[in-house]
Amino acid sequence: MNAHPKSFLAALVGLAFVGIVGSASAQDKAVMAKGQKVYNEYCKTCHQANGQGLGAVYPPLAKSDYLMNTKKEQIIKEIIKGKSGKIKVNGKEYNGVMAALPAKYTAEETAAVITYVYNSWGNKGPVVTAAEVKKADPKRK
Ligand code: HEC
Repeated sequence: MNAHPKSFLAALVGLAFVGIVGSASAQDKAVMAKGQKVYNEYCKTCHQANGQGLGAVYPPLAKSDYLMNTKKEQIIKEIIKGKSGKIKVNGKEYNGVMAALPAKYTAEETAAVITYVYNSWGNKGPVVTAAEVKKADPKRK
């Protein structure tokens, strides 16, 4: 039995698709691993390992409606420059202080950690690039 040309074409399209998806996820994995490293080293102290936050002071990042509903540009800025004052996250009010992100974290590491919180613990969010971090904070290496 000869393979029908149409099924050959379908197989080819399928292979190309697997190729594209495969390479994108390998790159994503590297970014997520880098982001997790920064998260565990720095953010985890306050926001906890699973992004669930802590008590009345540290708001959750996991399934945070604030994270999901605030513009990406603002989230990037707040994580880099720090944030204080009243905010509501998942129906609970917080009024704490998050210090600015230490300068030792590069634009690439910063982009990776923000991508990591946007896409962990059930969150589904965008990818953040080093260029977007640089736009918010031109002095960051
Ligand atoms: C020293 C403690 C501390 C560290 C470290 C810290 N944060 Fe925060 N973060 C806070 C506090 C406190 C707030 C709430 C600020 C307010 O009340 O206005 C906050 C708020 C946030 C918010 C917005 C609110 C929400 O829950 O969605 C995001 C997003 C966030 N932090 C991400 C990060 C990321 C990413 C890192 C690591 C790069 C980090 N934070 C490191 C204490 C911290």
